[in-house]
Amino acid sequence: MARKKILVTGGAGFIGGNFVQYMVDKYPQYGIYNLDLLTYAGDLTKHKHIETKENYHFVKADIADRETILTLFEKEKFDYVVHFAAESHVDRSITDPGVFVQTNVVGTQVLLDASRMTEITKFVHVSTDEVYGELDFDPNTFFTEDTPLQPNSPYSASKASSDLLVRSYNETYRLPVNITRCSNNYGPYHFPEKLIPLTISRVLNDQKVPVYGDGKNIRDWLHVIDHCAAIDIVLHEGINGEVYNVGGHNERTNLEVVKTIIKILGKSENLIEFVKDRLGHDKRYAIDPTKLEKLGWKPTYTFDTGIAQTIQWYLDNKEWWESIISREYQNYFEKQYSSI
Ligand code: NAD
Ligand code: TYD
Repeated sequence: MARKKILVTGGAGFIGGNFVQYMVDKYPQYGIYNLDLLTYAGDLTKHKHIETKENYHFVKADIADRETILTLFEKEKFDYVVHFAAESHVDRSITDPGVFVQTNVVGTQVLLDASRMTEITKFVHVSTDEVYGELDFDPNTFFTEDTPLQPNSPYSASKASSDLLVRSYNETYRLPVNITRCSNNYGPYHFPEKLIPLTISRVLNDQKVPVYGDGKNIRDWLHVIDHCAAIDIVLHEGINGEVYNVGGHNERTNLEVVKTIIKILGKSENLIEFVKDRLGHDKRYAIDPTKLEKLGWKPTYTFDTGIAQTIQWYLDNKEWWESIISREYQNYFEKQYSSI
C-alpha cells in the first residue's frame, strides 16, 4: 500500500515544529512533509535529529504563492493537510496587520483551493480561541464551539476570517475539514517573543520582565505536546465539518505566570516591570474542551508539571533561544525592550 502523505504547514515554527517531530516519531508509515517559508518565526535547527529520517521531508515555500502551492499539490498528491502556518503574534499584528491578512487569510485560501483540486482526504485547520473574543472574569464562563466569533485584534480577526473560509469550503465544495481552536500553548521551542519564553529568558539574564497593564488578564495554558495529541486525534477521529476546542483548564493571571517562573528560577520579583497595556488587550480566555474529550483526548500536563518541564528545557537548551534572540535582536528585541 502507498505510504500516506501528510502536509504540515508551518512545521518550522513552535507548535507545527513540535507536531512534525511528534508525527515523524509516532507514524513511520506516513510521509511527513513540512512546508514553511522560514519567516522570523521559523527555524530548522530544531529538526536536526529528524532531518535524515526517510519519512521526513522539507519544502521551503510561501502558502500564499498560488502557483508554487498548486504545482506542489499536483505533484505530491497529499492525503492530509494540517495547517499551522500563520503570523501568530498579537503585538506584531497591532503594528503591522497587512502581513497577517496575506498569510493567514490569502495563504489559507490558496491551500484550500489546492486541497479541493487534488481531492485530499482531510484538511485540519489549526485556529485559536482568540477568534471568540474575550470573556469577563466570571470563572464559570467558558468558550464553547457555539460561542459567536468576535475577534478583537488584527491577529484574531485574520484567524477568524480563515476559519470562515475553511467552513465555506466544507459547505460549498464538500472539502472534508476540521477546525481546532486552542488556548495559549507553551513548551519547548516557543519563540521568545511570547510571554512564557520571554519571561524565562529575561529572568535567566536578570533583565526586567514587562507585564502589560495590571497583569490581571487571564490566559488558559496548554502544554504543546497535549495540543499535538489533540490534533492527532482530530486528524484521525474528527467528524467531518466539526470544530473542536482544545484546552486543559489551566487558567492563570499573567502576573501569576510571571511570579511562578521567577520563583522556580530563584530570582527576585523586583524583576517585574509593569508597562503600558496592549491596545485592545483581551481580558480573559478559558476553554470548555468537553467535545474533544468525547473523542478520547485528555491533557497529560497540569500547569505545575508543564511549567517545570518547560523551564528545565530552556535551561538545557540555552544555545537554541540565545541564537534566536541574537538573530532577531536588531529587528525586534532591541526596539521592543531597550526602554525597560
Ligand atoms: P509560530 O509563529 O511559532 O510559527 C509559524 C510558522 O509559520 C513559522 O515557522 C513561519 O515561518 C511559518 N510561516 C509564516 N508565514 C508563512 C507563509 N506565508 N508560508 C509558509 N510558512 C509561513 O506560530 P505557532 O505559535 O507555532 O502557531 C501555529 C498555529 O497555531 C498558528 O496558526 C496559530 O494561529 C495557532 N495557535 C497558536 C497558539 C499559541 O499559543 N501559540 C494557540 C492557538 C492557536
Ligand atoms: P502572548 O504570549 O503574546 O499570547 P496572546 O497574546 O496570544 O495571549 O501574551 C500572553 C499574555 O501575556 C497576554 O495577556 C499579553 C501578556 N504579555 C505581557 O504582559 N507582557 C509581554 O511582554 C507579552 C509578550 C505578553
